[in-house]
Amino acid sequence: MSGGSQHWIARAGQPLRGSIRVPGDKSVSHRAVMLGALAEGTTHVRGFLEGEDTRATARVFEQLGVRIETPSASERIVHGVGLHGLRASSAPLDCGNAGTGMRLLAGVLAGQAFDSTLIGDASLSKRPMRRVIEPLSLMGARIDSEEGGLPPLRIHGAQSLTGIDYTLPVASAQVKSALLLAGLYASGDTVVHEPHPTRDYTERMLAAFGWPIEFSPGYAKLSGGGRLRATDVNVPADFSSAAFFLVAASIVPGSELRLEAVGVNPRRTGLLTALRRMGADIREENATQQGGEPVADLVVRHAPLHGIEVDGELAPDMIDEFPALFVAAACAEGVTTVRDAAELRVKESDRIATMAQGLRGLGIEVDEHPDGATIVPGALQAGRVDSHGDHRIAMSFAVAAQRASGDVRIDDVANVATSFPGFDSLARDSGIWLAAGA
Ligand code: S3P
Repeated sequence: MSGGSQHWIARAGQPLRGSIRVPGDKSVSHRAVMLGALAEGTTHVRGFLEGEDTRATARVFEQLGVRIETPSASERIVHGVGLHGLRASSAPLDCGNAGTGMRLLAGVLAGQAFDSTLIGDASLSKRPMRRVIEPLSLMGARIDSEEGGLPPLRIHGAQSLTGIDYTLPVASAQVKSALLLAGLYASGDTVVHEPHPTRDYTERMLAAFGWPIEFSPGYAKLSGGGRLRATDVNVPADFSSAAFFLVAASIVPGSELRLEAVGVNPRRTGLLTALRRMGADIREENATQQGGEPVADLVVRHAPLHGIEVDGELAPDMIDEFPALFVAAACAEGVTTVRDAAELRVKESDRIATMAQGLRGLGIEVDEHPDGATIVPGALQAGRVDSHGDHRIAMSFAVAAQRASGDVRIDDVANVATSFPGFDSLARDSGIWLAAGA
């Protein structure tokens, strides 16, 4: 687990220039290891995110008896054991900071013949798991949690699972994926309906691993009793990591930055839509497909932004990008209002509260709502902000500092390594002024 003592000092640097490639997609990397482990044969993963979250998932599968080689950084060779080849671990399985790891693993482990315990760090231990426990229990799983549906999760093996037809109360790719993964082990059909379509990587990857699955936006259906066949996975660069640079280059005059080969699955690019509505100048070039996923270079130039309203129509497609959007909003002309985004309160931190607190500390007026906020732009001042150990909050304030009148100290930044190892050096290479301290 990362300590909370590291901090950054960030201040206005140079215009962002050049061409950079951000690390591999976190969601795809988690799933590539999971499906590779459950497949028959050897899966070669290229572009794997060397983040703490995804490495924790790989370690969990090693504990469950899967051999995983690391021939070079960002590469994994997963020697699949087949759907029924995992072995019990006597030690708890540590998902670190990763909600995706824990929720998807709950689905996989519910279908095993043995018991398991899933644990996480302090932040993950406060995140709601009832959203997976309840539907998995409807399928026949037995999962014990702490009071209030919190981790650790004790998952009892040797339960026979039956498919269900389930409508998610809240749009969540993690919950959908947990049910589909449990559905691999269930008798009959598992059908998931979503109130708003979410990222469909589990569905696409199951199909790539040869599992028959029907899916369309907001809907997925599969039946149990098949087998997964190993296949190679090329992980695109993570749009959520590119997001910080899209905002930074948009708000710093004189910037023109190319982000290479970014995954632009429409279920992930809500921030592109939002920034363009705000007046951002972002072009997509060299559009291509990589392993069935749309990928493009994103070329972003500074442009004056204006405030907008973001509601439930766009929220799920940019669920991880609100911290970055709040920064763009603080630098825009006119008010920005975010609504229908209550899910932000149960991410790695309460992202509505942490962003509001941090921006206020830099002189920006933010009015919090239960499901969003109203951001009144203004001149960003020097100050000190607490990321509350949330990687995306820390990186967002490094971006905000590029428009501040003095130094911004950002506390508790070690968790940036969960999703974006090397952010600080890539940021510096592109023109951002950032120094690390212990
Ligand atoms: C993810 C789904 C989203 C997202 C998270 C990754 C995934 O979570 O916030 O970073 O890989 O399925 P929810 O399913 O809770 O919305």
